[in-house]
Amino acid sequence: MCGIVGYIGKKPAFPILLSGLKRLEYRGYDSYGFCVLNAQNEPFLYKRIGRISDAEKELLDLKVEGNIGEAHTRWATSGAVTNKNAHPHFDCSKNIFLVHNGIIENYQELKEKLIKEGHKFNSECDTEILPHLIEKYFEGNLEEAVRKALREVKGTYGIAVISKKDPQKLVAARFSSPLLLGMGQDETLVASDPTAIITHTRQVINLDDNEIAVINPNNFFILKEKPLVQIEWTPEEAEKGGYPHFMLKEIMEEPEAIENAIRGRVMVEDGSVKLGGLDVIAEKLREINRLILVACGTAHYAAQVGEYMLEEYAGISCEVDIGSEFRYRKPIVDEKTAAIFISQSGETADTLAALREMKKKGILTLGITNVVGSTQARETDAGVYIRSGPEIAVASTKAFLGQLATLAMFTVFLGRQRDMALVMGKRIVSELSKLPELAKKVLKLAPEIEKLAKKYKDFKNFWFIGRKYNFPIALEGALKLKEISYLHAEGIGGGELKHGPLALIDENFPTIAICPSDSVYEKMCSNIEEVKARGGPVIALATEGNEEIKKIADEVIYIPKTLEMLTPILSVIPLHLFAYYMAVLLGKDVDKPRNLAKSIVVE
Ligand code: M6R
Repeated sequence: MCGIVGYIGKKPAFPILLSGLKRLEYRGYDSYGFCVLNAQNEPFLYKRIGRISDAEKELLDLKVEGNIGEAHTRWATSGAVTNKNAHPHFDCSKNIFLVHNGIIENYQELKEKLIKEGHKFNSECDTEILPHLIEKYFEGNLEEAVRKALREVKGTYGIAVISKKDPQKLVAARFSSPLLLGMGQDETLVASDPTAIITHTRQVINLDDNEIAVINPNNFFILKEKPLVQIEWTPEEAEKGGYPHFMLKEIMEEPEAIENAIRGRVMVEDGSVKLGGLDVIAEKLREINRLILVACGTAHYAAQVGEYMLEEYAGISCEVDIGSEFRYRKPIVDEKTAAIFISQSGETADTLAALREMKKKGILTLGITNVVGSTQARETDAGVYIRSGPEIAVASTKAFLGQLATLAMFTVFLGRQRDMALVMGKRIVSELSKLPELAKKVLKLAPEIEKLAKKYKDFKNFWFIGRKYNFPIALEGALKLKEISYLHAEGIGGGELKHGPLALIDENFPTIAICPSDSVYEKMCSNIEEVKARGGPVIALATEGNEEIKKIADEVIYIPKTLEMLTPILSVIPLHLFAYYMAVLLGKDVDKPRNLAKSIVVE
């Protein structure tokens, strides 16, 4: 979610680091920083909030000497967007400088321990525990200290470290966060993403988990021999991770979005979740008996799924509304009501207006947001970040999965404060933990869904139907299709068909029916029969193993079995893929659909 570049060689490091960071900025980072060691091993340390492209001229004027250095662009996931929280982070004596991608899950515990041992911290960022831990173990050899420090860390990391006390060396290590070495002539680069170095070298070595690379100006070593790999991507393709569009890249990141949202937060043995952002209001939440969920677009559909989850498993009465309507209503609230605002960007004007209205009423406000430090995150009383990483395509995909996973955790949090039994809590968090792997399995359907899109690309109208947890997914499937392919698509609850929509059904109006094997499966089958009886083609999304459905649907896409409340997290993935392939086949501008913008900051 952040970007790393490191350099060691014979050339001035700073311009190379700067151009590498600039190439990573397409992801929308919020702060950046550099550390370069000069010939006397004195560090030049520079950290700023904002975008590197806005400060490029000023940065190029800086006279920075030195042939070894590291740089970082930050997309905040914990700790506000401030100069201090930007990387590189350093130890007490400013000898060790480190940049990090990933999340240190046990940083609170390590920080408390290090403070007791006399370490002085400078930021709120989880990363800062790393240079202090390395300092603790440093006895003259940097890689040895890094090795010992990393043994204490839980979480994910890709790091690059340099030190005044063991100079002319760059140490890089990874665990679950990509890191590669770019091999040039008398120089080595380190990067989290090939985009950063592709204009410099295409010869790379990908580090594997638990590997530590020690790089000197003329050579390097890692624990195992690694083969050289040739990068075939163009620089433009590299920005999108090799995918033709950001939207496809972001759909492919959906398993990671679930994983990032739940990492370090679900406790299977306790059947509970730990949401640090709610600690300050946990006691107040016990008193709440009504929730209002407000959001727009895709985030609103996440709120609707949340309503089913919260009512069924936390036993709390919920009401969901879109920001643009809620802001003009006169909702009746009292001290036992809390409002939850859901937004990827945290900047959607209608959602913010609704939030401000609720603040005026004095009720507790919570945020579920992706962008750290966004207006919504700052103005709500408390909240949870979904940690999906930058979402660039206008169509929201992976953030939706992050929102759903967060709402499921929120349900367990509130449920366990109330009547939810240990066994039910365990069941939900353990099924939730399996979702990243199941989501990867669903993504393997991509070629099958592309074929389906080829078959249906000339139809002009689509119904999406679903019930209960998958009713909002029908709405999301339709929104995604219309948003990027400009086809007419409508989502409805299956039970509504006979109240009007059936009149439109004929052989030219296909229906996508979301019908996993759940408590409303039989009802959905009846709805499919209604469509078939009028000659409408049906594409069904069903649970693996359900062969019966083939008798009534024209096409079947299978998703793995999970808990009913979690099915939306899997059923939406094929719909995102379907919308994507339809838009590509119709030649549309997938990442930037006409008339739309990523963040709607006006009413
Ligand atoms: O940033 P937000 O989550 O508040 O944005 C809300 C909607 O504008 C957004 O979800 C929009 O509907 C997407 N383009 C849908 O793909």
